[in-house]
Amino acid sequence: MANINFTYLPGDGIGTEVGEAAINVLNATVNKFGHTLDIERHLIGGAAIDAGMKPLPDESLASAKKTGAILLGAVGGPKWDHLKGSDRPELGALLPLRKELNLYANIRPAAPHPALIDRAPLKREFLEGVDFVVMRELTGGIYFGKKGKDNPNSNNPSAYDECRYSESEIRRISIKAFDLARLRKKKVTSVDKSNVLETSRLWRAVVEKVAKDYEDVDLEHLLVDAMTMHMLTRGKDFDVILTENMFGDILTDEASVLCGSMGVIPSASLSDGTMGMYEPIHGSAPDIAGQGKANPLAMILSAAWMLRLSFKLENEAAAIEAAVDAALYDGHTTGDLGGSMTTSEVGQWIADHVGGDVS
Ligand SMILES: NC(=O)c1ccc[n+]([C@@H]2O[C@H](COP(=O)([O-])OP(=O)(O)OC[C@H]3O[C@@H](n4cnc5c(N)ncnc54)[C@H](O)[C@@H]3O)[C@@H](O)[C@H]2O)c1
Repeated sequence: MANINFTYLPGDGIGTEVGEAAINVLNATVNKFGHTLDIERHLIGGAAIDAGMKPLPDESLASAKKTGAILLGAVGGPKWDHLKGSDRPELGALLPLRKELNLYANIRPAAPHPALIDRAPLKREFLEGVDFVVMRELTGGIYFGKKGKDNPNSNNPSAYDECRYSESEIRRISIKAFDLARLRKKKVTSVDKSNVLETSRLWRAVVEKVAKDYEDVDLEHLLVDAMTMHMLTRGKDFDVILTENMFGDILTDEASVLCGSMGVIPSASLSDGTMGMYEPIHGSAPDIAGQGKANPLAMILSAAWMLRLSFKLENEAAAIEAAVDAALYDGHTTGDLGGSMTTSEVGQWIADHVGGDVS
């Protein structure tokens, strides 16, 4: 029996709605498998600002560091859009959380579910057989580099953002990518812009060095501009796509189109050991918040990943995934997937079917 102690940060908008559905599923899972749940619920983002706190309150961060496993909904929304820089929910909560917990490896899958293939905007022939994972470096590069403005009051002001990567930063994310490829189809595609950028030339050299320890894994390099096309036209050729922070940000959003809906894609942001943060790839969706329309599957799958990667509970994670699979095949879904159920009804259906006969 395991005690599953984690930090729950529902955040804003639909974050709380999909979060409650996932907690419902986790409760059903621990009951089924004989574990206990010890949830540390804290504020983050706009909800924290409204309570008179920073976007990432000290107690939320302390809990995250203590438990080492975080389930996050989403942060942000129009109510806080007037705020600047690190006062904003997104900049003031997500970036420091990633940096403070050293969550340097972000993983997002792209594997269109057979029941959703016809919902994606691409032709079936480009989607069938696609099953890859993007391994994005998350704590370095241009998002964390020095930034500023020169001559802001002149008639021609300029601004800059510095992109910097060290060999050790590139090596550790490369090792994660090659380790993951070994468990999958044994292929790493490293994406850079080495025809132009010095950081990309270092990236490529370090990836080549790491690859020498993985002779059983194939390595190819692609330029990021070419990759935006290859991902859509020959997605089935990829296994693990390894890339830096900003390229990964852009490519993972492009990859989500292959899956038919934002509402079904989980993500994990990992550090060394079992430290990890798990969240859906979508945002707080203010346009549908509070209406019971949000699809909870990405959040529920994120919770399954937390069980697998931070608590090593493979059977429990697989049981949740099997129930999600059954919900998709049987059409127990929210409106974005053509169903008529509410967020909590989908959560309840999956909770009722975890660990049961879903064949
Ligand atoms: N990690 C995060 O917390 C995160 C990520 C992205 C955006 N955001 C923030 O979220 C806010 C809204 O951003 P956005 O509108 O660009 O992106 P979004 O992902 O919130 O929404 C984009 C579109 O997808 C729909 N959608 C998203 N998730 C859905 C779900 N689970 N079920 C059904 N439909 C869903 C929305 O209704 C919307 O039409 C912004 O403040 C943004 O900064 C936060």
